[in-house]
Amino acid sequence: LMLAALRSALLEWFAGNARDLPWRRTRDPYAIMVAEIMLQQTQVDRVIPKYHAFLATFPTLKALASAPTAEVIRLWAGLGYNRRAVNLQRAAQIIVEQYGGKVPDSVAVLRTLPGIGPYTAGAIACFAFEQDVVFLDTNIRRVVRRLCVGSDLLPTPSDAVLLVHAETLLPVGQGWMWNQAIMELGALICTTSNPACWRCPLRQYCRAYADAIVADGDLVNTM
Ligand code: ADE
Repeated sequence: LMLAALRSALLEWFAGNARDLPWRRTRDPYAIMVAEIMLQQTQVDRVIPKYHAFLATFPTLKALASAPTAEVIRLWAGLGYNRRAVNLQRAAQIIVEQYGGKVPDSVAVLRTLPGIGPYTAGAIACFAFEQDVVFLDTNIRRVVRRLCVGSDLLPTPSDAVLLVHAETLLPVGQGWMWNQAIMELGALICTTSNPACWRCPLRQYCRAYADAIVADGDLVNTM
């Protein structure tokens, strides 16, 4: 009952407030794999131009697989962590050689590819194949922790605990939209410092927000 209202509140907020990001306009598994690997350690605004340039030069998984590695690294310049570029190309080569050039849709298979950890495997399954899967990045961790556990001053919950909460929250059949929405809330509202609780669609459901209201009536920020 409360879960249904919470879900609607976030999905409605997302419908009205989502940024128009290029990787939200596609379901091409290769393009989404490229985006998610770029986004692992680099900010959205720095990724956008690199994402377009990379896909313009290597428009398909096969183009990436057969490119000179030096060229792949050159296109990665400015993103940092060049090992990600080398791993991405190795993953593309393995997909060509072992999976007929089709990005695998199974989280377990994706996890076996170089540079693809639990986050990236889940993100590809969800954002390319629209599977109802849960996964954690820094934004999702922070939102789920505050919403379901409480104040940032409480002991850090394990990923296993956060994944159970994330699973409970996820509306069946809407994994794509839900995971994008949680990430967007973490990026735009539920930020690490000075979260904008006053305009948060989940304020009334949030444990951390409730923790911040103390007995004498003063609002103490514990986030
Ligand atoms: N960071 C990682 N994946 C993202 C996505 N799909 N949208 C926005 N930010 C992201």
